[in-house]
Amino acid sequence: MEAEHLSVVSKLPADDMLSALGFLSSICFLFADSARRMKVERSSPVQGSLAEQVVLPCHFSIIPPPTGSTSTSTTAAWTKLVGDEEIVVIVTQNGFLKIGPEFKGRVSVPSHPEDEGDASLSIARLRASDAGVYRCEVMHGIEDTQESVSLNVNGVVFHYRANTSRYTLDFQHAKQACTDVDATIATAEQLHSAYEDGFDQCDAGWLADQTVRYPITMPREGCHGDMIMRPGVRSYGLRNSSETYDVYCYAGKLQGEVFFADAEMTLDEAREECERRDAVLASPGHLHAAWRAGLDRCDFGWLSDGSARYPISVPRMQCGRGQLGVRTMYRFLNQTGFLLPSEKLGAFCFKGMSS
Ligand SMILES: *[C@@H]1O[C@H](CO)[C@@H](O)[C@H](O)[C@H]1NC(C)=O
Ligand SMILES: *[C@@H]1O[C@H](CO)[C@@H](O)[C@H](O)[C@H]1NC(C)=O
Ligand SMILES: *[C@@H]1O[C@H](CO)[C@@H](O)[C@H](O)[C@H]1NC(C)=O
Repeated sequence: MEAEHLSVVSKLPADDMLSALGFLSSICFLFADSARRMKVERSSPVQGSLAEQVVLPCHFSIIPPPTGSTSTSTTAAWTKLVGDEEIVVIVTQNGFLKIGPEFKGRVSVPSHPEDEGDASLSIARLRASDAGVYRCEVMHGIEDTQESVSLNVNGVVFHYRANTSRYTLDFQHAKQACTDVDATIATAEQLHSAYEDGFDQCDAGWLADQTVRYPITMPREGCHGDMIMRPGVRSYGLRNSSETYDVYCYAGKLQGEVFFADAEMTLDEAREECERRDAVLASPGHLHAAWRAGLDRCDFGWLSDGSARYPISVPRMQCGRGQLGVRTMYRFLNQTGFLLPSEKLGAFCFKGMSS
């Protein structure tokens, strides 16, 4: 059942429900020694992709099974471990519902978990920040049992500008530009999830549905689009495919390894150096996927499209002014043009899984 529908039938305000939960768990504590036993199955880590949906399993059995008219209430509570704290994802009890603010409109559990022994959590429109450890706790009558599940989220959206200048790609070339760098043109849903994770880029780019948008988390002059001083994804709507913009690309899970070759090399020398190491120059798609997986390097390196970039996963002032992400070195101050291939830099090399 969709979470938002459930909340309509809530009979108790959330605070009352939480105190009811507190009451329940203190009863559990006092009378833990009961004839009825509960068991939750363990599960392996769950893999999800940006903007898609996942189900975190929580199957349990009550022994002996509850009979016919069960007056015993069942509570299913999902929490997420964030640092030393546990935040509420969703708590459901006899149709009463509480959902944590980051999960509003995106999570649901079966409305009567006891019927099927299933309190699995579904999360829609996944964000990178949803990755982590979740805990499912089921309380039936005076029994209480729990299990943890970890969630990984793959996929990254990035802005791509052609080597010549800003806003030079028509819709066909925009799709091709993403394919050429081992990515695909991003969907509006993927861009939205990236925005929710904090992606901010003041450049209009094509998306898969032939709309043109850009994500702004820090509203500022020159980046208002169709929203004045409000954070959000700006949209130019559906555009004629012959108009030209930049593009937003999407790269999934890295199928291999990216490493830095530390030397002073021209673009051609960089390509040869990667080959000497049984690899190839990494593409921007590879580098962004590697960044998402934690690659951190504060040196510009050549990539397969002739661009020079570096990935920052650990914030520090001297590398990209404390910001996270993949930095690009442009030839001109107005952030256009790639470096001359004769410049001397390191290289990011990519080695596929099979090689
Ligand atoms: C720019 O990119 C195009 C195609 O991606 C390529 O054919 C061309 O050689 C590049 N130009 C420069 C100056 O790198
Ligand atoms: C798109 O723009 C081109 C060039 O301006 C024009 O020839 C074409 O008719 C337009 N297509 C649509 C569907 O509006
Ligand atoms: C960016 O700067 C370069 C060099 O000054 C100039 O040739 C180019 O036209 C500029 N591009 C844009 C989009 O402003």
